[in-house]
Amino acid sequence: MKIISVIGARPNFMKIAPFIRAISKHNLNTTFPPSGGIEGGISGGNKGDINHILVHTGQHYDDRMSQSFFDQLEIPQADINLGIGSGSHAEQVGKTMIEFEKVLKSEKPDWVVVVGDVNAILACSVTAKKENIKCCHIEAGLRSGDMSMPEEINRLVADRISDLLLTPDLISSENLRNEGVPEHKIRFVGNIMIDTLEANRRKASLLNINEIINHNLILTQSESLNSHRSTLTAQLSTEGFAVMTLHRPSNVDRKEILEPIVRFIQNEVCSERLLIWTLHPRTMKMLEKFNLFADVCKQENLILLEPLSYLEMLRLNMGAKVMLTDSGGLQEECTILGTPCLTLRWNTERPVTLLKHGGVSVLVGNNIELIRKEYLNAINKSKEPVRPELWDGKTAERCLEAILKYK
Ligand code: UD1
Repeated sequence: MKIISVIGARPNFMKIAPFIRAISKHNLNTTFPPSGGIEGGISGGNKGDINHILVHTGQHYDDRMSQSFFDQLEIPQADINLGIGSGSHAEQVGKTMIEFEKVLKSEKPDWVVVVGDVNAILACSVTAKKENIKCCHIEAGLRSGDMSMPEEINRLVADRISDLLLTPDLISSENLRNEGVPEHKIRFVGNIMIDTLEANRRKASLLNINEIINHNLILTQSESLNSHRSTLTAQLSTEGFAVMTLHRPSNVDRKEILEPIVRFIQNEVCSERLLIWTLHPRTMKMLEKFNLFADVCKQENLILLEPLSYLEMLRLNMGAKVMLTDSGGLQEECTILGTPCLTLRWNTERPVTLLKHGGVSVLVGNNIELIRKEYLNAINKSKEPVRPELWDGKTAERCLEAILKYK
């Protein structure tokens, strides 16, 4: 069997790593020769009966957004990189479809596997189905109900046309049923991101937070930080720090939304504790555009970091008192680690992570009063890890089994 897996942007990398490992393990246990394929196609240890080809669309291209994940998660180099890069959504999707079609025509795989909700999954699932190739979506059935999110459109399209829909939780399976998806297409397999978390938890715990800061500090900040280095180390040793990540256009693309969030953290978080903010390239650009960057650089108790590697981010999350984020993946990781999480969104496609469903996260949108109220609640909580059903570190094997048994 020949499988092409597609990745494009940062959140895909931690989801594909365990799937590739599951293929390697399967191949070790089978003796059939590979069924042809590109020269050097090694992603997945192509010695058994699955010939695996890894395609990177190249949407995220910076080392910090891409290569560091390959290195740490031991993902083999992509067999094919489509080199798509930045652009509007239409440009990214259009270019991906043109390039991916060429790959499909020459490789003729049995399956295309897409993961998550980034632009690549829309582009590649549509292209696969038009070539009459079976498509499997890992992390299917998530719904925010918010059509202004590009990711929601990507999910809806991929789920509507894919042959096999592998869901991370029972709410997602139910969403698909409610949309009329026939039962034979749906399999509840658990959350594949948690496979990666469990495989790397120990390694991450060995990292030193001070070293993470020193390695990733945004350069303009290093001077002002040196002046209060001793307070910083004291704060870190008690591990009472907060972590923030923001990247959604709805939070960072408009000054009237971003500035009040920045003022809140400056005046009400940094006034009492250390806040570590890892800056996504989009957010960095916007802070500069709105003339906020110089000001946040000078803020005491605020540490601005470049995008972190997987292990570094996991280590910060393990030590954090509270997380402020608009990332879906971090919401899930906070659930397993028990870090109280303020989700800066009005909706979520991952309700299983919410307090009201037994998780650790609460939706605060970008309303400062709500953020303040929930922040004060969160810092008074202790860490209470939660493990939703089948978030057990063995999802990738169930994904592969579902593909192999598909009729
Ligand atoms: C994408 C995904 C989102 C995911 C997020 C995580 C879509 C629709 N969105 O959003 O689901 O949660 O990644 O990171 O696919 N840039 C760089 N270097 C890079 C990558 C991007 O400088 O390596 C810049 C781009 O030029 C662009 C901005 O960052 O200006 C945003 O990148 P883009 O790929 O458009 O989407 P993300 O916001 O990263």
